Amino acid sequence: MKKYSVCIVGGGSTFTLGFLKSFCRMKEQFPLKKLVLFDIDAERQEPIGEFGKILFKEQFPELDFSYTTDIKEAYEGMDFVFMQMRAGGLPMRAKDEHIPLSMGLIGQETCGAGGMAYGLRSCVDMIKAVHDIRNYAPEAWILNYSNPAAIVAEALRREFPDDKKILNICDQPENVVRSCSRLLGCDWENLDPVYFGLNHYGWFTNIYDIKTGEDLLPKLRELIKKNGFLPQDAEQRDQSWLDTYGMVETLMNDFPDFLPNTYDQYYLYPDYKAAHLDPNFTRADEVMAGREKRVFDECREVIAAGVLGDKFDDISDAHAEMMINVAEAIAYNKNTRHILIVENNGAIANMQDDAMVEVVCELGINGPRPMRVGNIPQFYLGLLVNQVSCEKLIVDAYFENSYQKALMAFTLNRLINDGKKARKVLDALIEANKGMWPELK
Ligand code: G6P
Ligand code: MN
Repeated sequence: MKKYSVCIVGGGSTFTLGFLKSFCRMKEQFPLKKLVLFDIDAERQEPIGEFGKILFKEQFPELDFSYTTDIKEAYEGMDFVFMQMRAGGLPMRAKDEHIPLSMGLIGQETCGAGGMAYGLRSCVDMIKAVHDIRNYAPEAWILNYSNPAAIVAEALRREFPDDKKILNICDQPENVVRSCSRLLGCDWENLDPVYFGLNHYGWFTNIYDIKTGEDLLPKLRELIKKNGFLPQDAEQRDQSWLDTYGMVETLMNDFPDFLPNTYDQYYLYPDYKAAHLDPNFTRADEVMAGREKRVFDECREVIAAGVLGDKFDDISDAHAEMMINVAEAIAYNKNTRHILIVENNGAIANMQDDAMVEVVCELGINGPRPMRVGNIPQFYLGLLVNQVSCEKLIVDAYFENSYQKALMAFTLNRLINDGKKARKVLDALIEANKGMWPELK
């Protein structure tokens, strides 16, 4: 069995520990030869890298593991590059959330004004990073799940139009499928979904039982009405995530055709959500006080002890597992089904060809083959055409250094939807993002 070399860009991320452990748990199905962590922030990455050394010494001694801030060391000879960078870090995520909320607009990592602010930062850093990767590893598969994935995917499509080895992925559709399996009491891999949308803005039209072909969506609708909706790993989640999943019940009561992605709540209830988020303590604050602290505490503990102790178990990490499954599908030409972000080209028949859409694809060594969903109903089409226009305009703003295009994107966005509000929040975000955004003229 061929063994692969993988680089993780964003080695200092709070998600990296989950990946390191998952690479150990999944070493039979996706064997690694070499793993390199890369980050531009040496200090942040170091404890994670040192944790990794102890973990692999105990669990995967044959692996060649290192961490670096040098792009050549990071990228040369790689088969896969997993990209999970957060342009501006969690402190800028906090600003993306706080600034709009202070004006009564939703501040969110990927949706609305905050998402567009993060989008412009990510365009700058992601495009540079992909050029660096292509310099040293022209053949590597680039698996991107850096956010906001919708905007990043559109920017990469334009900057690298002929590059067939860049794949944009989000774990949230699969997370929703996993939640369904919790409600149904079955294995999530027995569910065969049909899905359409943009990243963080989509719906499941059907959830089939893979063995019998029965569409389980009607049953799920009843179960959600009765029991509500929880993440598969609810026991490990913060309250804000439980609230987010809880909104699926409301969404399905109002719009019962399909099962929504959890992010649809922001687009369909912008006023309600803005009124119920705390402008002084947003998700970024919750992450910094919670997951970030836990992850770095765990590293420090293990480093001090010099051994793993009880810090490695069988509890799987859904996010890391999914990304490794994607790499495995490519590496071994498995042609398994995954929900991926791809250029539309008719997958959603009544949407423009050059939209980056999220649909079920078969995935193998030659890349994703999207499965068509046909025409989508007018209501959903209207919502998505609005949002895809907004995403395209913000990417225009990046490439053209255009204030006007940014203002149009902000005005069009359903979470802003007003020219004066758009200008006000845009101007505040320009101030906050000095040096991290392209200059808008
Ligand atoms: C899901 C989404 C990601 C997003 C993450 C935020 O996994 O698919 O795109 O970044 O949630 O999670 P957090 O716990 O950092 O709020
Ligand atoms: Mn996502």
